[in-house]
Amino acid sequence: MTMFSKKIACIGAGYVGGPTMAVIAMKCPQYKVDVVDVSEARIKAWQTDQLPIYEPGLLEVVKAARGRNLFFSTDISTAIRESEIIFVSVNTPTKTFGEGAGKAADLQYWEKVAREILRESKSSKIVIEKSTLPVKTAQTMENILNANGKKIRFEVISNPEFLAEGSAIQDLLEPDRVLIGSRETPEGLRARQEIVEIYANWVPREKILTSNIWSAELSKLVANAFLAQRISSINSISALCEKTDANVQEVARAVGMDSRVGSRFLNASVGFGGSCFKKDILNLVYISESYGLNEVARYWESVLQMNEFQEARFVRMIIREMFNTIVGKRIALFGFAFKADTSDTRESPAIHIARKLLEEKSHVAITDPKALDNARIDLAGSGSDADFLEDPYKAAQGAHAIAIMTEWALYRSLDWEKIYKYMEKPAFLFDGRNILDHERLFEIGFNVYPLGRPPLKHF
Ligand code: NAD
Ligand code: UGA
Repeated sequence: MTMFSKKIACIGAGYVGGPTMAVIAMKCPQYKVDVVDVSEARIKAWQTDQLPIYEPGLLEVVKAARGRNLFFSTDISTAIRESEIIFVSVNTPTKTFGEGAGKAADLQYWEKVAREILRESKSSKIVIEKSTLPVKTAQTMENILNANGKKIRFEVISNPEFLAEGSAIQDLLEPDRVLIGSRETPEGLRARQEIVEIYANWVPREKILTSNIWSAELSKLVANAFLAQRISSINSISALCEKTDANVQEVARAVGMDSRVGSRFLNASVGFGGSCFKKDILNLVYISESYGLNEVARYWESVLQMNEFQEARFVRMIIREMFNTIVGKRIALFGFAFKADTSDTRESPAIHIARKLLEEKSHVAITDPKALDNARIDLAGSGSDADFLEDPYKAAQGAHAIAIMTEWALYRSLDWEKIYKYMEKPAFLFDGRNILDHERLFEIGFNVYPLGRPPLKHF
């Protein structure tokens, strides 16, 4: 039997748990990594080559370690008992009921896991917060775990994940930084060092940051809030550009070349989506309010308000420009994922926009290379006037307008002349991601509406 130098478990086999553990297992064949989840369907999928999530490069990493030192199962009890280190990466959605509804994190899954770890453990363990959590959650975790008569001790570590979907494997292999927060007691520091040693197998030491546990928890929320804030900032300027004949891409370039500002995350868009930006900002807002810091709360809340404004503004533009009515018109949405290179549609701006267009009694044709299954689920119950088509040319057939929702690279290389021929005239194109060659589309005959630039219209 192979002897492993560390036994690691991960509870939660989702977008974070799956890829993160696969990379640890690939990079550290000396460790045994057990990934467990309550969802049988998810675990089954992880055991096949039809993985439950689409992520470039993920299958290769999984295949390199699966069955060797990477195992997927629903046997949570055994995984807890047999491991020395437990990562917890279950979902932490926004609370939908009771106190803090719509803002606070719903920690029921989290607490359930803590109690399960306590029930099953027969020896001391390090428990790692991998999920994104409100600052001070580690305290609750410690209180639950260490209220035991078993004479075993749990050290709680915060090791938030910064990967982005679509580039998860790259982000995990070459992270900007890894953050590990702990209590600054001798036991806490020892546990912190154990986790540092895991990442040091492939991450340069200078990129492994250590901090106190509250800084680590808070840094994760703040990192997401800052990223989302940049998008809301440039989106607010896109609205102003449309009124002033400035071009938001030129403005973003000029501003972003200041090395103090930096050029990334300044692409104006129809709005940011994804499972975390909104949830984590709401969390920050709720925590600030709970400490009586109302100005701080309002400041961060405005980032979300700007995002809603951008989505609403986009729909209003479509209706206005299409002669103030879209009843019975076919509108093709190109892309449904919240960003390119993922099948994930959580909080995708496309969901809100599709619903609004359906409310206006238009007929919506949705195309996406990876996210159609999720799109069907998201729009179930929003009326039957939606078509889901793999082929973008078919989605465009007979359409009055196309709206780009996701920045899939393939949309740049479509045969736009052919698409133009398929469409009703006048043909409208609303580029919610500014990814297409607007001048060329205008020459073909489209009326083109970029974001944050004057439209190119034939009338
Ligand atoms: P997810 O919904 O994809 O996965 C969570 C998994 O946990 C699910 O498969 C669910 O079945 C499982 N689970 C829930 N309760 C359980 C329990 N009691 N026992 C065992 N399994 C249980 O979520 P995700 O996107 O992986 O996010 C997880 C956490 O990581 C969240 O806190 C999120 O904020 C954070 N995060 C996500 C990303 C991302 O890109 N998605 C990036 C960084 C951080
Ligand atoms: C984001 C962060 O980038 C990760 O660091 C973090 O770990 C993760 O959230 C999380 O905590 O879940 P993710 O949501 O996967 O990652 O994707 P991003 O690349 O950040 O994009 C988020 C949204 O912003 C997308 O809808 C994207 O299209 C949009 N976006 C991004 C813009 O509209 N403009 C930009 O310039 C950049």
